[in-house]
Amino acid sequence: MNRLLPIGVFDSGVGGLSVLRDIRKELCNEDLLYVADSNHAPYGDKEAEYIETRSVAIAQFLVDQPVKAIVVACNTATSAAVAQLRARFNVPIVAMEPAVKPAVEKTKSGVIGVLATCRTVSSDNFLNLLTRFGDNADIVVQPCPGLVEQVEAGDLSSDMTRSLLEKFVFPLLEKGADTLVLGCTHYPFLAPLIRSMAGIEVTLIDPGEAIARELRRRLETIGQLSHRERLGTEQFWTSGSPKNAKELISQLWETDVEVGRLPEV
Ligand code: DGL
Repeated sequence: MNRLLPIGVFDSGVGGLSVLRDIRKELCNEDLLYVADSNHAPYGDKEAEYIETRSVAIAQFLVDQPVKAIVVACNTATSAAVAQLRARFNVPIVAMEPAVKPAVEKTKSGVIGVLATCRTVSSDNFLNLLTRFGDNADIVVQPCPGLVEQVEAGDLSSDMTRSLLEKFVFPLLEKGADTLVLGCTHYPFLAPLIRSMAGIEVTLIDPGEAIARELRRRLETIGQLSHRERLGTEQFWTSGSPKNAKELISQLWETDVEVGRLPEV
């Protein structure tokens, strides 16, 4: 494998950009390819088989580029498809799951809240997490239908987004949660709003940095970190409208970017 090859990253939409941001900070000279499956977002209210089919198709597209590793920057896709991806593709696959373990280690009140999609919280992977860590803290699970759509619309701060979010966050605070797990990669973009509701005492856990460090470790172990001197580049694709995606990704990435149309996969 050529260690100058790019790293592929995908999500149902733009949420994975919160992970891409952390990867860019951790690995400044790696080239990064990002796929937003916007035409099929949100994944969170779809059947597991559908998400698995989409994830395999996108991973195949990335492997064909080719890439030297894949980051599944989506908790929902991980819960539905990671086993299948690892079985099919012969590149390192780094995947997300709600950061329950760090939250349980962090909480002082003994109550943690987990914000995630409906599909993630009903998955076997997530139920396993609850079984493993449920004795160490009171874990309050909050599915958040509708929230991904707000981020996909670039609406990070309107009254509508705030009132939707309040319905999810306030019950967790009322139950005494002092640590909130952002269990969907779209939610870090709503962190300022969540922070304004929860106050500075509450810890928000976004696993993006840990995932970026894990990616570095994995590549280092197999001698696949890039050794080039120049800064890495980013390339973006969407299965939705490139025009809309260009606007939204430029907003969230805080730089003007070009976005290509993902070939039919
Ligand atoms: N960013 C995805 C996640 O981490 C969102 C899933 C969705 O599209 O509903 O779960």
